Amino acid sequence: MKRYSIAVLPGDGIGPEIMHEATMVLNAVGKKAGVEFALTEALVGGSSIDASGVPLTDEVLKLTLLSDAVLLGAVGGTKWEALDYSIRPERALLALRKELGLFANLRPARIYKDLIDASTLKPEVIDGVDLIVVRELTGGLYFGTPKGVEKLPDGTERGVNTMVYTTPEIERIAKVGFEVARKRRKKLLSVDKANVLETTELWRRVVIKIGRDYPDVELSHMYVDNCAMQLVRNPRQFDVIVTENTFGDILSDEASMLTGSIGMLPSASLGATKNRAMYEPIHGSAPDIAGKGIANPIATILSVAMMLKYSFEMEDASNAIETAVEKVLGKGFRTADIYQPGTKKASCSEMGEAVLKEL
Ligand code: IPM
Ligand code: MG
Repeated sequence: MKRYSIAVLPGDGIGPEIMHEATMVLNAVGKKAGVEFALTEALVGGSSIDASGVPLTDEVLKLTLLSDAVLLGAVGGTKWEALDYSIRPERALLALRKELGLFANLRPARIYKDLIDASTLKPEVIDGVDLIVVRELTGGLYFGTPKGVEKLPDGTERGVNTMVYTTPEIERIAKVGFEVARKRRKKLLSVDKANVLETTELWRRVVIKIGRDYPDVELSHMYVDNCAMQLVRNPRQFDVIVTENTFGDILSDEASMLTGSIGMLPSASLGATKNRAMYEPIHGSAPDIAGKGIANPIATILSVAMMLKYSFEMEDASNAIETAVEKVLGKGFRTADIYQPGTKKASCSEMGEAVLKEL
């Protein structure tokens, strides 16, 4: 029997609730496929700060390094917002990305027919949208140095972050972009701000160079401000968008709203080798609804589907989860974030159960 070890990090806020549903789905799929998923649960983020003073302990980092994949809920919350930057819950996420070398973040956004009215955009604009943001995840403004806030002699302060990219960093994420596009509609859009930022001028040049190895993929370029506008104007034009860390952070949140709710979007963060992978919903810990049992577990359940596909080559099982989610939506089940009059309001666990039943 195949056996995979998975580090399960529920995190904070709604993290534990959504993770409960996702691991049930994972176990059910494993049972059916005759694969053993050995899950080890551990603390991360605020819950780790409460238990041991730091958002990510060495033990938990080691666990993730020794696992075949990591499944993460969400980190952060108002309780820890006053803490110094260096020990905030979010640091755990950034440290995991850096230490595991997870440079490629895949964030698909597709419209479910049954949710077409849940979006704030007109149905005719979003009908048929199926895009994926490939976000660079270990470079750019998030990690560049110099960084920090310093006091100046005159009593004022000076804050600095640095957007920095090297050729190899751009090359490897560009390759991921092209590879992903190759398996889809073969359209890659590279998003930059090459009219103003030198580092993204380099980005554009390097992406064009890598593109010579992918003549079958149609490459185009767009400035990030225009892309933000085009995403709400005509989102169907997009297939694969490859972009740097901060732009990808912003554009993927924007893309999520095409689908009606950020509670629907999964993600995969991949490194250079197969055993370097982390899967998580793109939404946060939603402290305002934590503990109420009303969170939407679908993004985390779909993150499990991505894990099966990208880490374990279990395409069929992955597709089965996606189909189950579609069926559940078709039957009218809706968590609060996607609820509309005439549909069936479901709690977090009812939604999880409904998906499980379809499997
Ligand atoms: C995301 C989140 C994180 C990010 C935060 C929580 C650090 O917004 O995964 O998109 O900015 O990358
Ligand atoms: Mg974000």
